[in-house]
Amino acid sequence: MYRIIPALFLFLSLLAVSPGRAQKNHDFQPKPALLRLIDGNLRQAANQYKVLMGRVPADRLPKTYYANTDKFETSNSEWWTSGFYPGTLLYLYEYSRDTSLLREALQRLKLLEKEQYNKGTHDLGFMMYCSYGNAERLAERGLLPQGAPSQKPQARPAPAYDEILMNSARSLSTRFNPKIGCIRSWDSPPWKYPVIIDNMMNLELLFWATRFSGDSSFYRIAVTHANTTMRYHYRPDYSSFHVVDYDTATGNVLAKKTAQGYSDSSAWARGQAWGLYGFTVMYRCTHDQKYLEQAEFIAQFILTNPNLPADKIPYWDFNAPEIPRALRDASAAAIMASALIELSRYAGPEKGRGYLDVAEQIIVSLSSNNYKAVVGSNGGFLLRHSVGHLPGRSEVDVPLTYADYYFVEAMLRYKQLGNEKKE
Ligand code: GLY
Repeated sequence: MYRIIPALFLFLSLLAVSPGRAQKNHDFQPKPALLRLIDGNLRQAANQYKVLMGRVPADRLPKTYYANTDKFETSNSEWWTSGFYPGTLLYLYEYSRDTSLLREALQRLKLLEKEQYNKGTHDLGFMMYCSYGNAERLAERGLLPQGAPSQKPQARPAPAYDEILMNSARSLSTRFNPKIGCIRSWDSPPWKYPVIIDNMMNLELLFWATRFSGDSSFYRIAVTHANTTMRYHYRPDYSSFHVVDYDTATGNVLAKKTAQGYSDSSAWARGQAWGLYGFTVMYRCTHDQKYLEQAEFIAQFILTNPNLPADKIPYWDFNAPEIPRALRDASAAAIMASALIELSRYAGPEKGRGYLDVAEQIIVSLSSNNYKAVVGSNGGFLLRHSVGHLPGRSEVDVPLTYADYYFVEAMLRYKQLGNEKKE
């Protein structure tokens, strides 16, 4: 596998955006008791995902499970969550080296391969980077065969994971409108050109594409999208609107609304988590200080919010009127934990320690019987009590694939503390 990295381009692009401050790397060490808890969780997770494996039809991907009716819900590869199941299997294989998890992951990747050409969704980053991105990363480390698993032995050589990721980045880029400065989220009315905060999570794929190919157009799209989002999605208190709708003729903002939150002016918990994670990744990929500041302001909004419960598992919306009886969202907590572990490396030592403390609390809370399912229950999912789309009455207080994915990612990130590559 060849890899093209024009060093000059990367050097110049970093010079262009970096005000000269390199990322910090603190020597935070993991706590031994939490490491033991995490190791136990990950061993259980590998077993629990074998239960899940037994429930998903060969041509489908899991979505959720309703315990009261024992109803299991799956999707095809076009659904935005399709990459999380293979992604989690790859993380668990990375931890356990259990080849049955790898085999299952490779089979499910096959289902997603055609999505590389899907230009009808902004979710390709979620779908392809959480799945093929992890496959590529593990292949680079010699832990998987290179190339997609889709070809029969005698057929032409399988396209490599990086080829699939490059095509995915090209497809995603077709949704960028320079007049607006954003990648379009949904294509459906009544919106004109809607952009949701979740879309920040799709940018990591574009940074990967520039690193791999040397083509800076992906990098520029990601930076422009993030800058526009910073400008229009965020309120003065650094909470985020869910949806900003733009006028395609003028590029002006038409409306700032919610779709999945309590109200247009509320702070939908998962949206805050996506923003926190997204701007932390922006800092990692550009070293531009303004993204670190943005991530820290978002963290401040979340962590100092009077409606954040003591166990740090947020209500589904920070302004849900039924607080303190409002439903919690384990998925938002898992995303926040993973993001805060990364952010702790870049912030000053005191703030960094504070972010890590909260991430530790979230991992402990999610590991309790309240949230973590007993192996064999919960349809094979790891976590209970997530909220998908409450106003749409869909996936309310259920397990979700992305809650599991970011929970496992957070635990693996925590185990890496002290071993991160100095950047
Ligand atoms: N649209 C992604 C989410 O529900 O967070």
